[in-house]
Amino acid sequence: MKKIALITGVSGQDGSYLAEFLLEQGYEVHGLIRRHSTENLDRLADILQSPYHKVKFFLHYGDLTDSSNLIRLVTQIKPTEVYNLAAQSHVGISFEVPEYTAEATGVGTLKLLEALRLYGGSCRFYQASTSELFGGLEETAPQSENTPFYPKSPYGVAKLYSYWITVNYRESYQMYACNGILFNHESPRRGENFVTRKITLAVANIMAGKQEKLSLGNLNAKRDWGYARDYVIGMWKMLQQDKAADYVLATGETHTVREFVEEAFAHVGITLRFEGSGIEEKAYDAKTGRLLLDINPEFYRPAEVELLWGDASKAERELDFKREVGFKELVAMMVDADMKKEAGTK
Ligand code: NAP
Ligand code: GDD
Repeated sequence: MKKIALITGVSGQDGSYLAEFLLEQGYEVHGLIRRHSTENLDRLADILQSPYHKVKFFLHYGDLTDSSNLIRLVTQIKPTEVYNLAAQSHVGISFEVPEYTAEATGVGTLKLLEALRLYGGSCRFYQASTSELFGGLEETAPQSENTPFYPKSPYGVAKLYSYWITVNYRESYQMYACNGILFNHESPRRGENFVTRKITLAVANIMAGKQEKLSLGNLNAKRDWGYARDYVIGMWKMLQQDKAADYVLATGETHTVREFVEEAFAHVGITLRFEGSGIEEKAYDAKTGRLLLDINPEFYRPAEVELLWGDASKAERELDFKREVGFKELVAMMVDADMKKEAGTK
């Protein structure tokens, strides 16, 4: 049978890696994109310049909040696999736009599932669920498929709806529908306002003399950071099983934001000296005494998830989920990519 994938959120970090991977596997790939006043398809540049474009790779305008558009696209494309990656995916910003986040990140999933139910057929469905579902229950770490949920943001609550509506459609309509409960995953394609990329960009800019210092919020938050390309392979594997199920993807390691900053500066030969605590905390170049990091409470969130630390043993066992890139390599890869880009703009 011809394999046809529809990816919502194809212009995002994960969407772009997944599209590349599926094309390599021989799929015909369709991506949903939104209209912007200036095009934002940078992450898809390689595919758009490749022989795949308009032969095996097709883009369609649409929006997860527009059900008639989703019904039309599903009927027209006739996908065998749908990856629902589209979302207002920034946790901090979800406090600023809670209603829109509920519409896109929550109810949008229902609209897509309904489009698939109306279309009929045996299409498989992947929902981009998240470790933000675990949120506030620190005592339950490391977190697995059996850990209770306690979201701490409008984003987390919207994703909770999407998680359960996916389970509900699996149970009610015998759809092959999976939740991938993914812990943070990063790459040089990460959005610039997520903390890892903000840090690696700042390191590159500071080294180039274009930025004085880096300002962050909560340095104590702990995250389980993996590499995005490893995780999209895990997504695909979830849809290749005999029976649909939900899986955690994680590294099993957790690090503070402070450790990420230290590692990123260390990679360019700068040792940081930290002083103070809370909003008074600062970090200096240990050699020169130059101020490189301070705290700006603007980046604190009204409610915070302090600890994410995943247990991916089910995915390792059942999907043979593997991680090729560890924490230090990930930081190095991101800093190097931003340094290279920086050098290219001179
Ligand atoms: P991302 O880079 O922020 O990409 C999000 C994508 O969704 C973009 O292509 C965006 O399009 C699209 N989008 C946003 N609102 C939309 C709407 N209303 N209709 C259609 N498309 C819309 O996110 P990511 O890091 O690749 O993450 C992919 C998915 O996994 C998201 O659902 C995220 O919540 C989830 N997730 C991510 C992580 C992680 O650590 N990266 C972990 C767990 C779960 P534009 O380009 O037009 O903005
Ligand atoms: N963005 C950001 N900017 N975060 C900061 C900053 C800052 O200046 N300073 C400290 N942080 C802290 C946040 O408070 C949070 O505790 C941590 O750094 C990580 O923030 P983000 O990189 O924005 O990611 P996230 O963990 O909130 O959410 C990401 O991972 C989720 C999976 O756990 C996103 O990709 C979500 O879409 C995803 O579901």
